Amino acid sequence: MSDVVRADLEGDVAVINIDNPPVNALSTAVADGLRAAFAAVSGDGRSRAVVLACAGRTFVAGADIRELEAVAEGRGPAGGPDVHDLLTAVEDCPKPVVMAMHGTTLGGGLELAMAGHYRVAAPDASMGQPEVNLGIIPGAEGSQRLPRLVGVEAAIEMLVGGRPVRAAQALETGLVDRIVEGPLLDGAVQFAREMAGRGAPPRTRDRNDKLASPDAHAGAFRAGREMAAATRKNETAPFFALEALEAAVTLPFDAGCRREKDLVVRCLASDQARAMIHGFFAERAAAKIPGIPEDAPDVGQAAVIGAGTMGAGIATALVNAGIPVRLRDASPEALERGVVTIRKNFQRRVDRGRMTAAAMTERLAMVEAATGLVGVGDADLVIEAVFEDMGLKKNVFAELDGIAPAEAVLATNTSTLDIDAIASATRRPESVIGLHFFSPAHVMRLVEIVRGESTDARVVATASRLVKRLRKVGVVVGNCRGFVGNRMMLPYMREAQFLVEEGATPAGVDAALREFGMAMGIFAVDDMGGIDLAWRVRQQYRHLDAPGVRAPLVLDKLYAMNRWGQKTGRGWYRYEDGDRTPIRDPEVEALVAATAAEAGIARRDVTDTEIVERCMYIMINEAARILEEGHAARAGDIDTIYLSGYGFPRYRGGPLWYADSVGVDRVLARIREFHAAHGALWTPAPLLERFAAEGKNFADFHRGR
Ligand code: NAI
Repeated sequence: MSDVVRADLEGDVAVINIDNPPVNALSTAVADGLRAAFAAVSGDGRSRAVVLACAGRTFVAGADIRELEAVAEGRGPAGGPDVHDLLTAVEDCPKPVVMAMHGTTLGGGLELAMAGHYRVAAPDASMGQPEVNLGIIPGAEGSQRLPRLVGVEAAIEMLVGGRPVRAAQALETGLVDRIVEGPLLDGAVQFAREMAGRGAPPRTRDRNDKLASPDAHAGAFRAGREMAAATRKNETAPFFALEALEAAVTLPFDAGCRREKDLVVRCLASDQARAMIHGFFAERAAAKIPGIPEDAPDVGQAAVIGAGTMGAGIATALVNAGIPVRLRDASPEALERGVVTIRKNFQRRVDRGRMTAAAMTERLAMVEAATGLVGVGDADLVIEAVFEDMGLKKNVFAELDGIAPAEAVLATNTSTLDIDAIASATRRPESVIGLHFFSPAHVMRLVEIVRGESTDARVVATASRLVKRLRKVGVVVGNCRGFVGNRMMLPYMREAQFLVEEGATPAGVDAALREFGMAMGIFAVDDMGGIDLAWRVRQQYRHLDAPGVRAPLVLDKLYAMNRWGQKTGRGWYRYEDGDRTPIRDPEVEALVAATAAEAGIARRDVTDTEIVERCMYIMINEAARILEEGHAARAGDIDTIYLSGYGFPRYRGGPLWYADSVGVDRVLARIREFHAAHGALWTPAPLLERFAAEGKNFADFHRGR
């Protein structure tokens, strides 16, 4: 029939099969194949019913996002590839059409499934409409069929939340008609036979029983808008989705579909959709590392050295991915604390119903804990997470060098130290790499994979493969101070402190940043990470401060006052016992004002615009240097780091996508003004100047171009 769609007969049931690896995306080729298949089976007297199933690991997992991206970039049809005729052909098929879903039925896949008359699913299948995560809404009648099947409230939850539901929940809401234990195709064919001969099959479009009257849903829509405002701050797509759902309630099916189409066109033309689609592809591109072997070995046994905050989190992540861990610490008490933390991490998942008690027992058995480095001689990956101290780390690596197998990857979780210096403690620097996890390590998705001067390509490949197996986002970065994420964060933090010295307040700066879309304000982040830590990092590099260049003044004082952030109940903010909500503290504001007066800094009103510009542009300037030095390969890698590890708003696409959207020349013009007003720390990055002169932007930037 076509390369990707074929139809066979299974007795008196026609089975249409999609085979479009890797995820059976609903590409134009698949849609064409389905058109032909349905045309053929509809009039074929040999079959009484139709089953649509997919080969490989999943039912159709979505539209072809490359095609959507083309539309968002102004190429291709305004609403995306049109499959309305296909869906009508499926729904109007005179024989019952049963969709057999396994894996993840997402987006356009679920819309296709809903056009069928019945849906059966494997027990571990999940299904959802995640379009909001790309700044768009379902565009193939999903907003009109979903509420007819599951009701308005459940549809709001799925469209605004964007999270898939599991088969059992889908059965409860009516999205799925039967869960098939055992072979799915057999069960689907059986179900199709049961439904054949029952007269005209039921069309979803004709169902109105769950829609009731528009008035009945006013409360649900109000709650949906509140949910969107709270959980998807500043994002427009959830509101478009709600409008489309309202159309399902107020308009006949075809008119509702036309309304959906109008809304999709508007979404796809939005800056937010473009930014979010960029974020999606940037993350995928970051996973592809040029010049590394594809056949990297899998990690069979890991060892984690240091059972503190990071070590315990990393060990949790490893065993979650099925990798047994030898956990080591120098201190028996610290080791015990680490094991308790790991148990708590799992217990929390058990309590939330996300893990069975049996699975927890199994995973805990995969952690073997002992003091010293005894027994790590069989580990093919070692991750060191001891105190941040160069001498100590060198000792650990020298000892590891004596006992780890020749092929082992020796990784450090350092956040500030020089990987090459650590590697120099071994006779095999080519085996040493940085794996910079973020706290809490079993939750945070980002891992910076830090390539040292001597790190072998095979070692990078093994590390990258491991990070994928942990279901995290790995980005390869160079061995520079702070690597990429924290290197940009440092000037950002510094600039925020200058802003308060000049007249803003910590709470005011944080509010402006949150309004911009950051998940947290920078001062709240500092309090969470610990002011003692920030101070210690500052101490390490104080000798590098150029003479006469401005330095922030308040951090040292907070440190000396024991205002170390959440851990001491006071930092840039104050905290009530057992509560992490930052509370504005007049004492800090007075301290800042007195410090500024002492230093002769004139106080003035600082606008929110200035706060955002100075915090963002100083980061962008630093990012330009990182790119130019080759410490990140692509602008998209830096965006990925900020989207997955630093709470940067997805709808702005990351700091460098944001710079492009403002306009590199405009960003540079402001940087020049800040340079004139505030001095050397604002020296424009040469790459920015070159871009502005040549009319280029960050999206064009790939190393070597
Ligand atoms: P931590 O102080 O919680 O844990 C360090 C552990 O190492 C302690 O349990 C200590 O007993 C143990 N240790 C010390 N010397 C040892 C030795 N010779 N052999 C075995 N164990 C030894 O520290 P944390 O926060 O877990 O940091 C660990 C590393 O991770 C540091 O390099 C830090 O810079 C880095 N990091 C920390 C992040 C954070 O947010 N805490 C984030 C990213 C990286």
